[in-house]
Amino acid sequence: MTEPERNLSSGQPAFVDYRPARLPDADMLRHGRDVLARMDSRRSVRQFSPDPVPRELIELAILAASTAPSGAHRQPWRFVAVSDPVMKQQIREAAEREERESYEGGRMPAEWLRAIAPLGTDWHKPYLETAPWLVVVFEEMYGFDAEGTRSKNYYVKESVGIACGLFITALHEMGLATLTHTPSPMDFLANILQRPENERPFILFPIGYPAADAQVPMIERKPLDEVAVWHT
Ligand SMILES: Cc1cc2nc3c(=O)[nH]c(=O)nc-3n(C[C@H](O)[C@H](O)[C@H](O)COP(=O)(O)O)c2cc1C
Repeated sequence: MTEPERNLSSGQPAFVDYRPARLPDADMLRHGRDVLARMDSRRSVRQFSPDPVPRELIELAILAASTAPSGAHRQPWRFVAVSDPVMKQQIREAAEREERESYEGGRMPAEWLRAIAPLGTDWHKPYLETAPWLVVVFEEMYGFDAEGTRSKNYYVKESVGIACGLFITALHEMGLATLTHTPSPMDFLANILQRPENERPFILFPIGYPAADAQVPMIERKPLDEVAVWHT
């Protein structure tokens, strides 16, 4: 048994060396600009191609997301991946029922409807069937220890939000597109996907390639001076 393994099994903190290579300043700047350019090219997509996406790509994106930092390292997330057409149809029908009520049944306040008007969305969600994969991320409100006793999770929303950010970035880096979709309320996802009571739906991600004729709303991103404050 190595020293860290001995410490882990004894419940003592265990440490390993962490020595990532330190890059020359010029390389860091180049990498930083490249990363920004790649991330700036990501857009939320609402029209998908039905072309299949290999399951391994989804597995890799989930594993990349699961590297996210999390409160007390509880990793309080569960990624439920769906390619079954019957289930996708059920999810679409349930989401459209909720969204129709929100958009047309008066559930969305006028201010909210005004805020999303530039995106041109409505209650129709065909992409929930067209996209080859739906990944529903659930937050684990609490977990279970080795004896099956309830254990507390910490900073669940923050942790799952960060994991979702990494998930979106990993998909984009692989050349896939997604949409951060939050049909409201989302309880129907827990029922259709038969999740246990400690899990709550957080975000629904349709995933695939953009349709050949996909379009995205023209939006601008805030410049640095509107998103950053400095004390130097
Ligand atoms: C938490 C969250 C919830 C969102 N919910 C929806 C949604 O339910 N439907 C939708 O069409 N877009 C949704 N979006 C996508 C935003 O509209 C989109 O990210 C924003 O317009 C910026 O566009 P971009 O992602 O292409 O940069 C959501 C985004 C976030 C972060």
